[in-house]
Amino acid sequence: MRIANWAKTIKNNYLFQTVAEKTKKFSEKNPEAKIINMGIGDVSLPISEFVVKSCLEASKEMGEISSFRGYSPNGGYDFLKEKIQEEYSQRDISLDLDEIFISDGAKSDMSNILDIFSGQNICSIPDPVYPVYLDTSIMKGLKVEFLDANEENDFLPLPDFSVKRDIIYICSPNNPTGAAYSREQMKKWVDYANEYESIILYDAAYESFIQDSNLCKSIFEIEGSKSCAIEFKSFSKSAGFTGMRCGYSIVPKELKRENISLNSIWSRRHSTKFNGVPYIIQRAAEASLSLQGKHECEQNIKYYMKNYEKISETLDSLSIKFFGGNSPYVWMKCPNGMKSWEFFDYLLKNLKIVGTPGSGFGKNGENYFRLSCFGLHENVSEACERLRDLL
Ligand code: MLT
Repeated sequence: MRIANWAKTIKNNYLFQTVAEKTKKFSEKNPEAKIINMGIGDVSLPISEFVVKSCLEASKEMGEISSFRGYSPNGGYDFLKEKIQEEYSQRDISLDLDEIFISDGAKSDMSNILDIFSGQNICSIPDPVYPVYLDTSIMKGLKVEFLDANEENDFLPLPDFSVKRDIIYICSPNNPTGAAYSREQMKKWVDYANEYESIILYDAAYESFIQDSNLCKSIFEIEGSKSCAIEFKSFSKSAGFTGMRCGYSIVPKELKRENISLNSIWSRRHSTKFNGVPYIIQRAAEASLSLQGKHECEQNIKYYMKNYEKISETLDSLSIKFFGGNSPYVWMKCPNGMKSWEFFDYLLKNLKIVGTPGSGFGKNGENYFRLSCFGLHENVSEACERLRDLL
């Protein structure tokens, strides 16, 4: 019996697990400390009332013989897929229902999708970025090359046409930097992928936080993208579903490699390994895309972006450099040239604030730090006061 090679080489812990363990240890040693958690991007506001109402109604349906439902159709219920289709059509993107696959979230989709690719592919991963792409590519045995994202390129690396890559991860707005591609910049990536027959895995989990209308919200806004891209979206951040679990992937039917339709093999993989999102949750996701649901979810997004403003004002007043504005994260430079984990320990010990060390997102994240804007106003305000007092 042998275990997989990746298990012998991969870093011990998933980034957010390390942060959680360090925080737990500190709070056990200092039970009186009022810790403010601005680490993992987890929402703090309750789900919209309208969405909750639809969950309750769906739960009741499950208790009646006439409306009870068993397995969800593979790929999800049409009522939800139709709502998603409508969302896209409002942006002049036309999708067939069987191009949409409902799942339990973007994190699982982004790693599961690798099942349909050969482990011989070379993939390009931005640095810094959400650590799941690197970890799951290592688990799959892919060869990884990094795309440097830094202040010089506004954290938005563009394609280098002199090198060929097979799979390209793009997260826009980027987690953690908040940098988001314009349509012109995305067109360059689409042209590159079509030229080399690469596949772009486009993570749009933070799309609903984009404030600037010139920025790309879906890769399918870009001409030529349906022959080279797969898009992933999640209800976690847009509708507060981190604990509910629902997302989806879009695999266009015209996307083919080696004469095989990626839509068909993704469907084959999905139906074999996944048994669908609960009916109640799919009804909730549907409600979040209704007029009333969308309005209520947008209020929550506005609330979180107020936190962004508050934190950025504070950092400005302290003359600390930071980036963001189109995502629920503040990407700040660690003061006094501190290393990311050094600053993590410093903040936790002296201010009882938890954030995420930039180096956990890649080597280019060293000396940076990520603060999540998903907290309650009162906690964020208190954190800002603590920052002002100490720094
Ligand atoms: C984050 O904090 O980057 C994410 O919320 C973590 C996740 O989605 O797994």
